[in-house]
Amino acid sequence: DTSDKITLGNGNDVKGTRVRVFGRVHRERRQKEVMFLTLRDGYGYMQVVLTGPLSKTYDALTLTRETSMEILGELREVPAGAHAPNNRELHADYYKIHSHWKAAGGDDAITNRVSKDTEHATLLDLRHLTLRGETASKVMIVRDAVEFAFNQVYKELRFRKVSPPALVQTQVEGGGTLFKLNYYTEEAYLTQSSQLYLETCLPSMGDVYCIEKSFRAEKSLTRRHLSEYTHVEAELDFIDFNDLLDHLENVICRVLEVTLSNPVIKQYIMDLNPEFTAPERPFLRMKYEDAIKWLNEHEIVNEDGEAHKFGDDIAEAAERRMTDIINRPIFLTHFPAEIKAFYMQRDKEDPRVTESVDCLMPGVGEIVGGSMRMDQLDELMAAFGREGIDPTPYYWYWEQRKYGSSPHGGYGLGLERFLAWLCKQHTVRDCCLYPRYFGRCKP
Ligand code: 4AD
Ligand code: MG
Repeated sequence: DTSDKITLGNGNDVKGTRVRVFGRVHRERRQKEVMFLTLRDGYGYMQVVLTGPLSKTYDALTLTRETSMEILGELREVPAGAHAPNNRELHADYYKIHSHWKAAGGDDAITNRVSKDTEHATLLDLRHLTLRGETASKVMIVRDAVEFAFNQVYKELRFRKVSPPALVQTQVEGGGTLFKLNYYTEEAYLTQSSQLYLETCLPSMGDVYCIEKSFRAEKSLTRRHLSEYTHVEAELDFIDFNDLLDHLENVICRVLEVTLSNPVIKQYIMDLNPEFTAPERPFLRMKYEDAIKWLNEHEIVNEDGEAHKFGDDIAEAAERRMTDIINRPIFLTHFPAEIKAFYMQRDKEDPRVTESVDCLMPGVGEIVGGSMRMDQLDELMAAFGREGIDPTPYYWYWEQRKYGSSPHGGYGLGLERFLAWLCKQHTVRDCCLYPRYFGRCKP
């Protein structure tokens, strides 16, 4: 048979013609004289109708979910009043299951191993199976589209992509979350951020970005911390702090625009997050000091159960409550130097604070952290001293300040947090393929 092979999301335009499809049985429903299957592949779902003798064969009678099938038939519009994906169904006249492609049944049937009664820890061990679920597969497909959109948007802005090392001998975001390893007898770490390396690319490559893994030994269980996450980082040369904020707002909005311009992806996002609307511009810009006032006015206390005071870290819970109440993206800026990383540029007007920004999103809180960077050698060396960091292994970082330093800055966006916001997922663990977090390194 020479019928055209099509993927399951397609076929709206070929109603009435014969097609050949391949996929796995997502769902099955039997009636007396007819059997309905929902077939799934990576591109969508299709309803298949088996009638008469075809619904009574041994294979049909013993059919299990997840069985791989090849089906030939005619694509037709669904009868009025009936529902099927994309309003069409395949009337099969031939199908094939290779006996070794039949999915396990009985106790081993996927429906027995992954059900609403399965314990949470077991479900996590069975991620290779739960990935086949509608929610998980939609999130992963949206993730692919978002990553693609970031690449497209950075190309539009003429940023160059680089790939810094994951094995490093320097910290970026504090010694407390370093994964240490033995590197041929020397001490090395899994990188916390590619920022320092991106800064070294500016003089020769112009504005740069990367999409790489970052690693943090976060010894706590929260819904937004992973041990290994995907970090979208960018660095911009010859800018001031306002340029950085404008750029960041622009990138976030343009990435959403590009992502939503694909109708299938847009539908998946609306299925996952029916209330989603693209954020309004400009984003609310709020100084840390005003956020402290706002928290106190709303009687949201700090981690010690007391009123917030200048210099306090705004903890995850307080930050999320604030973001949920304000209910729109917030650029929180000008954090005190003591609670931020050593490399951040001070504000000229108020040296207590830094030219720093966190972008907060409803439901998640911080999804981006960024800043202007200290560009004067003496200030940077003093900052190493204040933090108690030995500058020796950082020679390649501070030495750049000797050779044509510049006002520059950048940011890092956690891709899983961005997705948790966009797809309204409770935890970042559901926004990556195989999550790694405190206590879990499998499958
Ligand atoms: O705020 P962070 O620590 O900033 C940096 O690493 C900068 N050096 C980035 C830069 O300027 N190039 O991390 C940036 C973002 C956070 O806002 C968050 O979205 C994400 O990375 N992130 C995590 N995501 C998941 N799990 C974790 N443990 C994360 N830690 C940070
Ligand atoms: Mg941060």
